Amino acid sequence: MSSPDTAHANSATPAITIVLGVSGSIAAYKACELASRLTQSGVTVEVVMTQSAHQFVAPLTFQALTHRPVHTSLWPESAASESGVYAAMAHIALADAASAVLIAPASANLLARLANGLADDLLTTIILATRAPILVAPAMNPVMWSHPATQKNIATLRELGYIVIEPEGGRMACEHVGAGRLPASETIIAKLNEVLLQQARRDLVGLKVLVTAGPTREPLDPVRYLSNRSSGRMGFALAEEAATRGAKVLLVAGPCPIATPRDVQRIDVQSALEMRDAVLQAWPRCDVLIGAAAPADFRAAEVASQKIKKRGGTGELELRLISNPDIVREAAAQKRQDQIVVAFAAETQNLLDEARRKMQDKGADAIVANDVSQADAGFDVETNRVTWLSTTQHEEWPLLSKREVASKIWDKVLGLRPATV
Ligand SMILES: Cc1cc2nc3c(=O)[nH]c(=O)nc-3n(C[C@H](O)[C@H](O)[C@H](O)COP(=O)(O)O)c2cc1C
Repeated sequence: MSSPDTAHANSATPAITIVLGVSGSIAAYKACELASRLTQSGVTVEVVMTQSAHQFVAPLTFQALTHRPVHTSLWPESAASESGVYAAMAHIALADAASAVLIAPASANLLARLANGLADDLLTTIILATRAPILVAPAMNPVMWSHPATQKNIATLRELGYIVIEPEGGRMACEHVGAGRLPASETIIAKLNEVLLQQARRDLVGLKVLVTAGPTREPLDPVRYLSNRSSGRMGFALAEEAATRGAKVLLVAGPCPIATPRDVQRIDVQSALEMRDAVLQAWPRCDVLIGAAAPADFRAAEVASQKIKKRGGTGELELRLISNPDIVREAAAQKRQDQIVVAFAAETQNLLDEARRKMQDKGADAIVANDVSQADAGFDVETNRVTWLSTTQHEEWPLLSKREVASKIWDKVLGLRPATV
């Protein structure tokens, strides 16, 4: 990878266009350095400013640094007509041209607008219209940063696939001390490079992969079900990562309120039996199965046809549960030599012993073990700390975002593939 403060791009790399969004933060002056460094490294920098950003830095500064008109409005009379993009549709032209959109600094207000899908100025409209990766580097007073509304917006943006470059701690212009400072240009450019390189990675082209995600719902009666806390985020991250790297992806998802990643084919199911049917039907046409779902181990032996009543009872209700099939084990039992099965083991104790036992029992080629008793890993959080186990490998990975875990898992899957396929 290129050194962070020089360039990702050079004359040998294909043309790269970075849309640099600048919003109304005191850190807007630092965007000048970013614009300058990126321009010097050979990438095209299209600066898009919010109205508030003008209060902090003049568009002329960016124009001089990037040698390009600066984009300040949705409306044609002020949209840059010499910029080489069709001015009346600048938002679409810029959205299409972007290799990545980098918003630095991102104000609290802009984060809120993005988290709510607003498109009320040029920058937010470009962001809704682009298929390029979007990086946001928030900068604000520490109290604004830690405000639950801002943190909720950040969580939403992460869920929507935005890459958040965390602000750093220190003394702020407002004299407060705490997290909220825009990181140094080197840090931001290093992250941008990483994302651009990741985008360029197409090492899963030609692979058909099947990923399961989320919980299942096992009905008890017409209104009740048994389920678990799985959010589906790990499986969705695996599907998104594989699609970005060029695989054909089929995602079989239990009930998860998560947007389907781009270029991923999704089949929604409710119960473990439905998930099993969907998986076993697709499996012969696929090369890899990653079972990241948490299908229920048990279902009700009898599903009541009417709502179970509480009146007139003894105050107790006995449910008879029967085992659900083990979907990964059934798929592994049918697997050909050239197919790979990766299981997941969510445990609350004896993690590695249990995971090893499960890998053997299921006939999986590898297993990803996570201790779901930790607050920052496993179910219903953005991060995960997992151990990768195969018959020959045992690697403990640090706390990572689920997308980063997904990336490492696909790297490992590539390593498991027989050389001939
Ligand atoms: C001097 C000054 C400094 C500001 N610095 C920040 C900041 O660092 N981060 C932030 O989120 N808002 C900051 N604000 C508030 C934003 O400028 C304000 O919320 C504005 O509406 C943001 O608009 P935009 O998101 O469209 O750019 C500052 C306001 C002033 C007057």
